[in-house]
Amino acid sequence: MPVEEITASAAGTWTLGDRTVHRMGFGSMRLTADPDRARAVRVLRRAVELGVNHIDTAAFYVSPGGPLGVGTGPRRYATDLIREALAPYPEDLVIATKVGPSFDEASRHRELTPAELRRDVEENLRRLGRDHLDVVNLRIVRREGRDSVAERFAALAELRDAGLIRHLGLSNVRVDHLDEAQAIAPVVCVQNAYALDANRWADDLLRACGERGVAFVPFFAIAGGGRESGAGGDHGDAVRAVARAHGVTPHQIRLAWTLHQGPHVLAIPGTGDPEHLAQNVAAGAIRLSADDLARLG
Ligand SMILES: NC(=O)c1ccc[n+]([C@@H]2O[C@H](COP(=O)([O-])OP(=O)(O)OC[C@H]3O[C@@H](n4cnc5c(N)ncnc54)[C@H](OP(=O)(O)O)[C@@H]3O)[C@@H](O)[C@H]2O)c1
Repeated sequence: MPVEEITASAAGTWTLGDRTVHRMGFGSMRLTADPDRARAVRVLRRAVELGVNHIDTAAFYVSPGGPLGVGTGPRRYATDLIREALAPYPEDLVIATKVGPSFDEASRHRELTPAELRRDVEENLRRLGRDHLDVVNLRIVRREGRDSVAERFAALAELRDAGLIRHLGLSNVRVDHLDEAQAIAPVVCVQNAYALDANRWADDLLRACGERGVAFVPFFAIAGGGRESGAGGDHGDAVRAVARAHGVTPHQIRLAWTLHQGPHVLAIPGTGDPEHLAQNVAAGAIRLSADDLARLG
């Protein structure tokens, strides 16, 4: 089947809280890199046409000045672009956002207070033009030793009880953070940096999520160790060989590998390029053999 005819349903589904989403989603951070707003809007609309119904964002996804550290000209917020492209929102669309340290010098190295978390939730509501948020991840900066998430997660649980948030998740955490949060309120997802060649310490976290029915949502699945700077050209011999055998790109194999790590693993590849979007969605249809998986590690 031609790449552009494969839809996100090829990746199968997962129940995220009370909503069913396709396991192939979309990450919106990269959209801000391009000064061409119209292109970003087109990419978002095309993602939804291709069946994507799980979009990841944050009010601090902005260029210039945000996590990517790129861009010139007027500030572009991913949340504003999502509203511009997709409101009024399709019934089945789940928008997951996150709150926590942002990227300005004042807050990048410290955790936010409950009042600041509420302010960030309100900013997300305002920019997305919604009266509630589907999923909010508490994003933390992991520190050695005692770094409890309890107070901050409890603050978000209060906003959930008040109806501003439907479901809660965590980002950049360890299993002990998940334990702590689950004692306070249900956790529907964990979002961490994870790829076949990066952050494999999180294999245990991925497994713990599966055992507890929590979605594991890796970011940098394509970028790997390249992180914010993006996808490098060097994917390693195994990825290149498996890609050749399937007649697809190494980036698609990285995504396919991600989806093969368990039925609870959701992909949120980020791109501002319509062709890459179609390739990423199509990666949900790739079926890797046991030999492929052994080779990829
Ligand atoms: N919780 C957190 O702390 C956190 C942190 C970072 C990101 N995130 C979320 O996770 C999402 C995914 O992360 P990410 O976007 O940084 O990384 P990613 O999805 O691993 O990779 C994105 C990079 O790969 C390139 N790319 C994407 N598809 C491609 C394809 N088919 N062929 C070739 N290159 C391709 C993109 O460039 P092009 O634009 O040129 O395609 C970009 O450089 C983000 O968008 C964001 O929503 C969360």
